Amino acid sequence: MTAREGEKKIEKILYPTDGSKTAERAMHFAIYIAKATGAKIIILSVGELPFLHGAQSGLESQVSSQIKSVARDVAHKAKREATKYGIEARERIEMGDPSGKIVEVAKKEKVDAIVMGTQGTTGLARVIIGSVADRVIREADCPVILVPLKGSRTTF
Ligand SMILES: Nc1ncnc2c1ncn2[C@@H]1O[C@H](COP(=O)(O)OP(=O)(O)OP(=O)(O)O)[C@@H](O)[C@H]1O
Ligand SMILES: [Mg+2]
Repeated sequence: MTAREGEKKIEKILYPTDGSKTAERAMHFAIYIAKATGAKIIILSVGELPFLHGAQSGLESQVSSQIKSVARDVAHKAKREATKYGIEARERIEMGDPSGKIVEVAKKEKVDAIVMGTQGTTGLARVIIGSVADRVIREADCPVILVPLKGSRTTF
């Protein structure tokens, strides 16, 4: 390791959440890292618009604003939790494809790591990791830590 590498600090952690139990586990690990390093957490909640077959634009904007408000609530809840532990946290809401937005925000914000759940709200037991987690580890340009829901050593 060079001296320069030794000086590098973890300053920003991106924590994407869909409000699932697994994402909540991941948040506690993000808080644990933030406490140990003094890093800030950026909480990201991406609202995904479903395909509305033949929908009128009025309905689309109504659904979109409801989805955005749910995304806001999810991010808000996470921020309250982080603040409880004395961590500096900021919320970001995006609309669109979750994995694409997560990778994009990670690059724009130049985060040092992404901490997220192995699974999310769908959480099919037969798949090891969800499709959002899968795409993020393929496309992100920083380390990605995936936290599982089960396991005796996942509580922090
Ligand atoms: N819309 C989202 N906004 C922010 N983070 C998300 C979003 N969706 C998923 N994540 C993050 O990705 C992690 C893994 O979720 P993922 O969506 O990959 O699994 P899943 O819901 O079980 O499966 P799938 O979505 O493929 O059906 C979650 O724990 C969360 O940290
Ligand atoms: Mg999902």
